[in-house]
Amino acid sequence: MENIHWYPGHMAKAKKAILNDLKLVDIVIEILDARIPYSSKNPEIDIWSKKPKIVILNKVDMADEKSTAIWRKYFENKNPVILTNARGESSFKNITDIAESIMKEKLEKLKSRGRIFKPIRAMIVGIPNVGKSTFINSYVNKYIAKVANKPGVTRNNQWIKINKSFELLDTPGMLAPKLTTETGGLNLALTGAIGYTLDNYSLSIKLLEILKKRYPKLLIERYKLKNIENTSINILNEIANNRGFFIKGGDLDINRTSNMILEELRSTKIGKITLELPNDINQDL
Ligand code: G4P
Repeated sequence: MENIHWYPGHMAKAKKAILNDLKLVDIVIEILDARIPYSSKNPEIDIWSKKPKIVILNKVDMADEKSTAIWRKYFENKNPVILTNARGESSFKNITDIAESIMKEKLEKLKSRGRIFKPIRAMIVGIPNVGKSTFINSYVNKYIAKVANKPGVTRNNQWIKINKSFELLDTPGMLAPKLTTETGGLNLALTGAIGYTLDNYSLSIKLLEILKKRYPKLLIERYKLKNIENTSINILNEIANNRGFFIKGGDLDINRTSNMILEELRSTKIGKITLELPNDINQDL
């Protein structure tokens, strides 16, 4: 995983690259992390581009299905939404179908004016670690594998020719992580998308707060807790004790316990967890 530091110079360069690429495409494909759709979104893209957009909720294999359904509905108010697990099986076929239906009117207009047919061009955008490269690779590999014997599916220059009417820009647009709200930064740190100024102990306490509220059953089951009507600090101590995490002298090894909990969140050992819902974001806006 890459940890990028967003210095102003870096951000300006990334913005310039995106603005340039946006001029070349008809459609924007915005990838969000299904576990933190709001925190993994950089709203600037909607200011920079008014072009039709498809929203991808990626990493659905790590998010809880009910929450993903809620988020899907939320985003579908404005844009078509596709759910993906870029690392596994995903229905990429939908993307070309949706792109074609979004562009239908425009293409028909062009055709009626006798213009030459041009393939629809799209680009992927998203913040670091949301799965942009994985998505592009799986998309291309899956498609090319399927139609390997047919000519025309080639990577040429910067365009990946998915089929005769759809091309994808092979470099994704990099958006800066949005760190305007405390919760947003915290969620990005919890999923491991960015480093964070909070130490792992404080992060794990914040995580326990979220789990107590949203996933009490998973928390109790995973760590064999008696009850969770307790402070998060006490719960952390109980987990350390249950796991037998001690340092020399017999004190609880809280550091190791905090690291373990964060690792178990990120590897979905605790379960499929979505850290925020549309209702939560109203508090932040
Ligand atoms: P980026 O281009 O947007 O920066 O993200 P990238 O594709 O590098 O993905 C970041 C991490 O997220 C990678 O894991 C990648 O495998 C993982 N990932 C991407 N999409 C999905 C998904 O839908 N589900 C799951 N479970 N994981 C996904 P990594 O640990 O950094 O690397 P590696 O394990 O692939 O080597």
